[in-house]
Formats: sequence, structure tokens, C-alpha cells
Amino acid sequence: MDYFHYRDGQLYCENVPVEALAHQYGTPLYVYSQATLLHHLHALQKAFAEANPILCYSIKANGNLSICRLLAEHGAGFDVTSGGELYRALRATPPKKKVPIVFAGVGKTDAEIRMALDADVLLFDVESEEELWTIGTIAQQMGRRAPVALRVNPDLPPKTHIKTDTSVKGVKFGLDIETVVEVAQAVVGHPGLQLLGLHMHLGSPIIKTEPYRLGADKAVHLIAQFRRQGHQIRYLNLGGGFGINYRRDEAPPAEAFAEVILPAVRATGCQLILEPGRFIVGNAGILVSTVLYRKSTGGKHYLIQDAAMNDLIRPTLYGSLHRVWPVRLPPGTPERPPVDMSVDPERANPFLDFPGSLRQDVVGPVCESGDFLAKDRPLPVLPRGALLAIFSAGAYGMSMASNYNSRPRPAEVLVTDATHRLIRRRETYADLICCEEGCLN
Ligand SMILES: Cc1ncc(COP(=O)(O)O)c(C=O)c1O
Repeated sequence: MDYFHYRDGQLYCENVPVEALAHQYGTPLYVYSQATLLHHLHALQKAFAEANPILCYSIKANGNLSICRLLAEHGAGFDVTSGGELYRALRATPPKKKVPIVFAGVGKTDAEIRMALDADVLLFDVESEEELWTIGTIAQQMGRRAPVALRVNPDLPPKTHIKTDTSVKGVKFGLDIETVVEVAQAVVGHPGLQLLGLHMHLGSPIIKTEPYRLGADKAVHLIAQFRRQGHQIRYLNLGGGFGINYRRDEAPPAEAFAEVILPAVRATGCQLILEPGRFIVGNAGILVSTVLYRKSTGGKHYLIQDAAMNDLIRPTLYGSLHRVWPVRLPPGTPERPPVDMSVDPERANPFLDFPGSLRQDVVGPVCESGDFLAKDRPLPVLPRGALLAIFSAGAYGMSMASNYNSRPRPAEVLVTDATHRLIRRRETYADLICCEEGCLN
């Protein structure tokens, strides 16, 4: 359930008209729905209830402190991948609460390893042999034994975009499945290391359950081997990557992922850890923009609006599809458009046969031909000042935003029923130069 819907031709986030938010906070603006965030978190908690999983929300998807705090208050831990994300996780942790944190990433620095040991992370997800020894040495120097899980690359067939598939042969992630058991053998009894788990993150987004079944089977096998070596394996971490509905209903529900993962939990008796990011926050956020200009050139129609690749880079980086619709539907648009985009994203577009609608490229002001948010989409002809909603922008939207072209990053707003609050103020021009000003001679 995503709490964005049209009522009387106007887009609402929960019970707040998106237009009112755009007027109050300006655009480009990220708008998040609290009910949607919690709905997706609870969907995972329910589907995997039998295993009572530790759900470590993957901060890279959206690290806003208020969102992280909200999720931690509702039972989530954190998956972090850098010192900066660990810093966020610690700042977002509710007062007087300790939440489980897992630390992944192929290039942890010595300083980050020390920081994570100081923060008492639940597990390091270790991605190379050299990293493993480094963590062991640093932990010993600090008089500690570091809790580690070995991240294994299960070498599965391609399952998602080549840039985000992390479990095919030859990617930089994890330890080779052929040699991971030898690596585990080498650290039996190491005074600075406790091998407590196995980690696997297949890639993202994955809209089939089969890769998880294959990965989980391999994990069961490996855990048995680690145990025979004498390691006390307690944790099975199957990462994140659960796909979401960018179009309509192309992604399996949480129960379907649970069905293929839970047998591995039963077989190993391990505590299950998951690292969902996109599944929780992806459809809980939209990016709202304002139409600046219309332009036709080279036989194409362009809708130039004030959001750009620096605000949402997924279309440029991965060719990702985000639905883009007007915040206020033109008169005559079906109230609940039949958007079966899983069949054919275009055929189901309510504006395809709409009188006067045109195929348009939705682009931003950035000086790159690759700056687009949508291409060749049937959309009504919208006046200057009209508002657009770019859907499914909650994950890897703001967290990948940059200041390219010296554009201040957008504000972020969290809606709860009929109320809303700023959770990140819009950046200013002064913010753009604040790290440089003191260096000017
Ligand atoms: C190790 C790890 N865990 C979890 C995630 C989160 O993936 P998603 O947001 O698709 O759930 C990622 C994403 O890249 C990742 O690299």
C-alpha cells in the first residue's frame, strides 16, 4: 500500500495535497509518506515473523536522519557501508536505545574499522581476505575480538542491471565461493576475530525470488562447512535487494521472498539478518518539480522542469523508469487511471490517448544531454508552473543527489496523515561554498 493517490483530480500524499506542500516548501521537493514507510517495514516484519529477523535498514537507500530514526523506533537496525553512514546510524539511533548495525563495503579504512569497533557493531561483513586480517589486527590492538561475517559472492546468473548486480562472477564484491571455506579455515581461533556469520547481497533491485532460493541453498551449505571448522555461526545475512513496483505490480510481495529464504533459516537455526533499503523507502517518496518551459526541437517535445539528474540520477545512471504524472490531472483524466504498466508501461499510461497529449521528454536544467527524468512519455501539454510528480523516488534519490551545476539539493518533507514537517531544509547558495570559503586567499 502506497499512500499517494488522486482525489478530485489532485495528488495527495496521505491526507495532504501535494500542491500545498510545493507551495509551502518550493520545488524540487522530496515528499515522503510515513504510513508507506511503516507499511513496507511491517510487511517484511510480518512475512518473516517466523524467523524474528533483524531488519537492518540499508542507509544508502535514503539516509535522512528522521527517516532512519522513525524506522529504528519501529524495530529496524541499520546496514551501513561507510564511516559517514555509520555516523548517520549513530545519530539516528533513538536516545537510550541500542540498535543492531552491520557494516559492509569493499573498502573499509582503518579509521572506519576502529570507529565501527568503538560503536560495537553487530557484524562486519567482510569482503576480502586482506580486509579480514586487517580487521583482526586492529581489533587485537584495541583489545577486542571483532565479530565478522564473510560476504560470499555466490556466483549466480545475472538477475538485475549490470551496474547493480553484485553476485555474478567477476564483480568486486564478496569472497569467491570456491575459496571462502579456505579463508574461514585460516582464521579458526584467531585472537582478534570471531567468525559468527555468512553474508550475501545478491544485487538490487531483484524482482524474482529464484535467485534468493539459489543463494540461500548455497549459504546453508557453506554454514555447515564453517561449523565443521569449529566456527560458532549464529547469523545468516541475506542482504537486501527486494524489488519494488516501479511500474505497477512487477515485484513479488514480501511473503514470496520469505517463502524461499525461511527454509535456510530453519535448516541452519541461524538468526536471520536482512538489509532492505529500496523495499522500505522506494515507493514511500516522490520528487515534485515545476514545469519551467516547453520546447519542441529536432522532432521532439521537451518538458523542461526544475528537477534534474543531480536531484534524481537513476534514469541517467541506470535507464530506470519512474512514472511521471501531473500533480493536478487535466479535466477528463480518469480518476483512477488503469496503470497496468507491468504489461506495457506505455499502453497503460492514462495520457496515451488523452486528447492533445504529446510524447515528451521530461528533462532538467543541467548541462548534459543525459539529463533526463523520463523519455518519450505521453503527457498532457502542461502550462508553465504546473507541478509534476516523479514517483518511486524514495530510494537512491536524495541519497545519490549531488550539487552538480552548483544546484542546491532539494528539501525533504515527511507527511504523517494530515500533517507534514521539514526533515531536511533546502540547501542555499551559501551551503554550496561553505567548505571553500575559509580557504579563499
Ligand atoms: C550490501 C548491501 N546490502 C543492502 C543493500 C540494499 O539494497 P536494496 O536497497 O535494494 O534493498 C545494498 C545495496 O546496494 C547493499 O550493497
